[in-house]
Amino acid sequence: MSEEARARIDALTLELKDHNYRYYVLADPVISDRQFDALLKELESLESAYPQFRHSDSPTLRVGGAITKDFQTVVHDVPMQSLGNTYSREELEAFDARIRKELERDFEYVCELKFDGFAISLKYEDGALVRAVTRGDGVQGDDVTENVRTIRNIPHKLKGTFPARFEIRGEIFMHRKAFEKLNADRIRQGEKPFANPRNSAAGTIKMQEQSEVAKRPLDCFLYFLLADRNSYETHSAGLEAAAHWGLPVSPHRKICRNIDEVWQFISYWDQHRSSLSYDIDGVVVKVNDLSQQEVLGSTAKSPRWAIAYKFETETARTLIHSVDFQVGRTGAVTPVANLEPVELLGTTVKRASLHNADIMEQLELHAGDTVLVEKGGEIIPKIVGVERHSEATDSDRFRFPQQCPICASPLYRNEGEAAHYCPNSAHCPPQVKGRIEHFIGRKALDIDSLGEGKIAMLYDEGLIRDAADLYTLSFGQLNGLTRTVQSEESGEPRTISFREKTAENILAGIANSRSRPFHAVLFGLGIRYVGETVAKKLASRFRNIDELMAADRSELESTPEIGSKIAESILAWFESSENRELVERLRNAGLQMQAEAGTEPSSDVLNGKIIVVSGVFSSYDRDTMKQLIEQNGGKVGSSISSKTSFVLAGENMGPSKLKKAEDLGIRILSESEFLEMIGK
Ligand code: IVH
Repeated sequence: MSEEARARIDALTLELKDHNYRYYVLADPVISDRQFDALLKELESLESAYPQFRHSDSPTLRVGGAITKDFQTVVHDVPMQSLGNTYSREELEAFDARIRKELERDFEYVCELKFDGFAISLKYEDGALVRAVTRGDGVQGDDVTENVRTIRNIPHKLKGTFPARFEIRGEIFMHRKAFEKLNADRIRQGEKPFANPRNSAAGTIKMQEQSEVAKRPLDCFLYFLLADRNSYETHSAGLEAAAHWGLPVSPHRKICRNIDEVWQFISYWDQHRSSLSYDIDGVVVKVNDLSQQEVLGSTAKSPRWAIAYKFETETARTLIHSVDFQVGRTGAVTPVANLEPVELLGTTVKRASLHNADIMEQLELHAGDTVLVEKGGEIIPKIVGVERHSEATDSDRFRFPQQCPICASPLYRNEGEAAHYCPNSAHCPPQVKGRIEHFIGRKALDIDSLGEGKIAMLYDEGLIRDAADLYTLSFGQLNGLTRTVQSEESGEPRTISFREKTAENILAGIANSRSRPFHAVLFGLGIRYVGETVAKKLASRFRNIDELMAADRSELESTPEIGSKIAESILAWFESSENRELVERLRNAGLQMQAEAGTEPSSDVLNGKIIVVSGVFSSYDRDTMKQLIEQNGGKVGSSISSKTSFVLAGENMGPSKLKKAEDLGIRILSESEFLEMIGK
């Protein structure tokens, strides 16, 4: 039994860490908050029964999150805690009973909306915004000051009378309309849409380019003033003061004298939340009096004087018929449930992702079971619960396969990863076709005269087995090619054949792809973790494919935005002789294997240097200055610290930055000194 508990603790620890990473770093979670909480609860109870098996870095001990590369890490003066969650009136009443028992005197609650965004901590000194830091892992976060400065309702300067120095925390979010527009634009440009406004806000604030952040409208509400204990008696008085200084504080706040009034506030907003222009996912209930907050104190993770009540998300019940196992281009096998079609938030849901073997096994699904499908603002619906069909037997149970459903190779799993993979990357048809589809995609070789269906046809005819085969296709092979497919709608067989015009278009599209830039070719290779941005960084750093293939780990890792995970994946890809051969064949087919002139790094004079850019410049704009730093081998830092090599100062550099640089003895370069240094 205890061995079983240890194994389950190990597995849950790994899985929850992965979910934390997806949620906080990638801003791309695959399970709902509720599922996450259920797993966390299971781990907590196992750990309390078997404390000897608890990992020292267990997710139950931490707030979650992690630090991203490329932003300066800042330790919070006061850790950024999370909140306990409740999902029912009973749980809320239990919270109230505990508070009443511990305080033994009169008290009041403040109810606030729980904004579904991205936690941020702002520091003001002498009325000026000096720093904005993400929650990170709760103890330390990323310095995103420059990006936060682009948010219109966060004042750079305060008005009225305010404390000389203070910190205030809140949530950055995106209005639903802005989110929809952003996603429409992304889909149009062939990019993956964000699943919900929360992820798009998080993804935006972590962008490297300030000018890009500024194009995406973010908003902010602040809800937690870390004031000097003697300044205010209550939480609500602190927020009112903050609003007078010009800080964004939500007007939807109510003081409640008892839990019934709290419940009224919750019920009201549960019904009226769609009237807001942004998403809320619940209500936060806080004890108002600051000295009472202090009496109640905190646990390692969250204050004991506050709790979050989470709304139910929109769900529907339907039958599950079967589970398909889809194999992607990387070989990852994803279970997808086929459902009896059901209406959910205005769309008909027929399929839902089950994500991975663990999530699927945990749900214990059988043919004919009724499942609960949830769509809390997400694009892909999730199965969050199941009601067993009474006659379901073990043999009806859906099991994750041990072998690839297409090519029957035994599946494997990398330690610490949730997905199972098919190892037969060279011959497993969906992997081969998936790689070619990726290669012709808009951000890669952009061959829009081909698509999924045509690739499948060419593959099935034995005409293509990899991307390089596209460049050997002839008019004679394509003209008149015929295939019978099943119509998606009627299920009837339908014949498709390539006419002359189609064949010509395909060949023209393939020929044009020879002029696609080197970074697009690199992206098209489909190396794991090498997305569009990483491909651009690699192309500008290594200039041509030979230099890139010759690069060792440390050279790769010294490239902006490239960490050990990406470096490892690149090394492994080029280690394969098949991949090297593919590169040679693509080179012989005439594809661009070197970066265009003009984007060349002028030098590596700034190698290893971290440079913080501040102020306004006369010869180039700030973004160009940053590009110049990178093109000359340097790295752009976002705030001044002991690691900073130079500060590149233009006009109007902030006085606090100047002082900080002077205090740390960091050299300040003028615009002309810098340009001279890089030989401009
Ligand atoms: S108070 C020390 N108030 O929800 C407690 N948090 O799930 C500080 N959140 O970590 C948090 N709206 O990121 C507070 N009105 C609100 C909130 C709020 C959203 C976020 C915050 C928190 C998370 C917990």
